[in-house]
Amino acid sequence: MSESLEWGRRYLMVRPDHFRIDYVINPYMSTQDQPDSELALKQWDSLRQAIADAGGEVEVLAQRPDSPDMVYAMNLGLATVDGRAMLSHMRFEPRRRESLTAGDWFTEHGFALGRTGSDGVGPHFESGDAFVFGDSLVVGYGPRTEAEALEHLATEWGIRVRGMRIAHEGMYHLDLPFCPVDSTHAMVYPPAFDAESQAELFGIVPDPIVLTDEEAFAFSANSIVVNETIVMPACSPRLREILTGLGLRVVVLDLTEFHKGGGSVRCLTNPLDFPLTRITRLGGELILPA
Ligand code: ARG
Repeated sequence: MSESLEWGRRYLMVRPDHFRIDYVINPYMSTQDQPDSELALKQWDSLRQAIADAGGEVEVLAQRPDSPDMVYAMNLGLATVDGRAMLSHMRFEPRRRESLTAGDWFTEHGFALGRTGSDGVGPHFESGDAFVFGDSLVVGYGPRTEAEALEHLATEWGIRVRGMRIAHEGMYHLDLPFCPVDSTHAMVYPPAFDAESQAELFGIVPDPIVLTDEEAFAFSANSIVVNETIVMPACSPRLREILTGLGLRVVVLDLTEFHKGGGSVRCLTNPLDFPLTRITRLGGELILPA
């Protein structure tokens, strides 16, 4: 029997007041294809509204003028419902200033801050790679997050961490090929992972919803579930049938301007309520693919 997700009701979002494509760090970005700022703000507002309509709560953080990618708030840090936050240590230097502001925000809002490193020293960790699902914190690594960061998470928080090796440059964060839907269902795009991690993933997701290439590259897995609503940037008729069959109300939003930076619904929202109780393990435990 599947149950609703225990998290995903409270989010941090960053208002896109300085959203630009100033540099290229993923295959979707091009400095020749700039977002329309007015349209971006409209699209962002529609997302904030959709979360509120679904009964979710949104906290808003102002964007640093020197950090055009900061709108992708999912990467600011991994936050838990009991008040812990593991700050991201971004792989690419132009994103590292975001952590300064995120760190202040988490602290001011009562989160006890941890970090895997800073200023390029210590392992990289980007929180778009991490989700609580089943009996563990599932963390993607390779393109952005480094394996040593998983070790750090496991021991510092005393939790079970399962690593998934990402082997696809277009799926550089776990939130692009993987989306928890309820306690047993998750959308997955297997080609994002190497063979061992694909097997591992199928081992931990009791009811996988396997995405086609087209669905995955429309960022369908970059969606969020808020109570009984799933907010998505794209949903094929086939997916809609599966998701409504699970009792979800499907809301599809136009987020084209943010796709220019390589992110969508999930990337724009940072859940602040991941529960760690069921994944707690004395001393921590790290499970890496063969
Ligand atoms: N341009 C950003 C980057 O490459 C996009 C981040 C997308 N966020 C996400 N959670 N996948 O870092």
